[in-house]
Amino acid sequence: MATLSVNIDHVATVRQARRALEPDPVHAAVLCELAGAHGVTCHLREDRRHINDRDFELLMQTVKSKVNLEMACTKEMVGIALKFKPPQVTLVPEKRAELTTEGGLNVAAIVSEITDSVKAMRDAGIVVSMFIDPDEKQIEASAKIKADYIEIHTGVYASSSGKALAVELDKIRKAAAYAKSLGLGVNAGHGLNYLNTAAVAAIEGMEELNIGHSIISRAVFVGLDTAVRDMLRLIHG
Ligand code: PXP
Repeated sequence: MATLSVNIDHVATVRQARRALEPDPVHAAVLCELAGAHGVTCHLREDRRHINDRDFELLMQTVKSKVNLEMACTKEMVGIALKFKPPQVTLVPEKRAELTTEGGLNVAAIVSEITDSVKAMRDAGIVVSMFIDPDEKQIEASAKIKADYIEIHTGVYASSSGKALAVELDKIRKAAAYAKSLGLGVNAGHGLNYLNTAAVAAIEGMEELNIGHSIISRAVFVGLDTAVRDMLRLIHG
């Protein structure tokens, strides 16, 4: 059965809109765990636009389940990962001008560039996951650099409807099966909400869903505890 890791970046985004002290993503992480989330995800960006170093360090000290650190594979970020050793790192592409992560990481194009960093993090006991599109070439490249997991980018699926939705879901299903056959674990995320998550959670071999925007959006109206529990109920059918 798939687990849920709640991405709390959006809590920090609200805080940073005022450069204030609240809402605190660390408080959010505690509430997510109390509601039954299996982990907490945060993206420490180069420009620290939402989650900052203080948040990440406190999350490492307070989260009892699992911190999944999303990051670009830069020298600075790999250094932070090796210093704090989060249980899991998910490597993502990062562009300064983007509103959110756009598309998966082109692992195939940077195999030689990132192999040593992936090895260093794995040697330090960190589970390394690659955020990629449901694409065979990217899955093969992720296996080649000996990543532990892939996180399938569900953004295109999430923005599709009708027949295209079924086509995109099938791509995710096939990508998950292919990754498993190459020995990779399979996670998924991006754009998942209360309408489109159940179908992804039901895919054979799906291990973890990383969901942020829809949960924090719902939390504004119903509270974080209810929002997390509602999502867990959907994931677990
Ligand atoms: N997975 C990755 C790699 C992401 O970059 C994001 C967005 O930060 C998510 C999952 C969560 O996406 P959303 O906020 O749309 O649920």
